[in-house]
Amino acid sequence: VDLDALEAAARGLLTENAWGYYSSGADDELTLAENVVAWRRVRLRPRVLRDVSVIDTSTSVLGIPVRLPVLVAPSAYQRMAHDDGERATARGAAAAGTVMCAATLATVSLEDVAAAAPDAPRWMQVYVSRDRGVTAEMVRRAAAAGYSALIFTVDLPVLGNRRADERNAFALPAGRLMANFGAAHPSVEGGSALAEHVRTDLDPALTYDDIGWLREVSGLPVLVKGVLRGDDARACVDAGAAGVVVSNHGGRQLDTAVATADVLAEVVDAVAGDVEVLVDGGVRRGTDVVKALALGARAVLVGRPVLWGLAVGGDKGVAEMFEVLRDELARAMALCGVRTVGEISRDLLAR
Ligand SMILES: Cc1cc2nc3c(=O)[nH]c(=O)nc-3n(C[C@H](O)[C@H](O)[C@H](O)COP(=O)(O)O)c2cc1C
Repeated sequence: VDLDALEAAARGLLTENAWGYYSSGADDELTLAENVVAWRRVRLRPRVLRDVSVIDTSTSVLGIPVRLPVLVAPSAYQRMAHDDGERATARGAAAAGTVMCAATLATVSLEDVAAAAPDAPRWMQVYVSRDRGVTAEMVRRAAAAGYSALIFTVDLPVLGNRRADERNAFALPAGRLMANFGAAHPSVEGGSALAEHVRTDLDPALTYDDIGWLREVSGLPVLVKGVLRGDDARACVDAGAAGVVVSNHGGRQLDTAVATADVLAEVVDAVAGDVEVLVDGGVRRGTDVVKALALGARAVLVGRPVLWGLAVGGDKGVAEMFEVLRDELARAMALCGVRTVGEISRDLLAR
């Protein structure tokens, strides 16, 4: 079993509306495809004769111990994949020994996500509303519910053009709400209800100052997600970010944006060890994780694979997806001659 098989199984279980929303990228989906290909293009230079009889995939992220350097990427509307939605994802991530990141647009409230796996680490993803009071209230609730960091998503000033959602007139199924606000989407005639929500509710006027604002109102460290350039990463750190997530939103925003594997080293070098750098987009294999860490990422996040696991088996499916990646990572580490994630370094990569 690998993630390709999981994807095929999930596809057979989801409605056209849900599958279109989960799988699609923006426009011609070139960045979506390139994210996967860019990891595959990188070639490894394995070490030999290093006694790899014991392999340890554990590490820490922002000081949080994790069993593997793979975290849950925030994704909206998980109750379209499984009735338990984000609750099941939180339990699956807890079973796998990793961090759950809940989304602003979750279909289970952040308090209920916390209650589903009370002892497990969790982060909260933030979209900032035009009405700042709404966002201030949400991040304060997150802090009160034991979320230990915010992931501030900055690559969505407007919604990417997701043609599948326009074609399907994407909408949340009946009974599914944006649970953090107890609200349904604005209804639209044709077209995507998400596009309408972004247009009317989210603030397109964000600047670096909002990193400090979020930190202040929540009291939590802020990771900035959606950075693709060294200079932007540096500016985020200078503005008080606790970390950056190299991401192009899984190819769902600016099509033909660079693949994350291709810009990770630039970002890592620009922040020069001042904060941790995470990366997501197209990570599907244990070898992809090795490559990301070799380029200097502290950990990776996976988006769609979580949704596939969720669709196929709820919390067990999510945990199983992480187990597959952990097995692959352990094998890749052994074959690369590294025993711990700390031994993964850039010399493992061919130029
Ligand atoms: C269905 C779906 C919904 C998403 N929703 C959000 C979201 O609400 N907030 C956010 O910051 N990123 C969101 N993302 C982006 C993911 O956090 C992540 O950047 C991306 O999925 C990583 O690429 P991958 O799916 O190839 O692993 C979403 C991605 C998908 C596939």
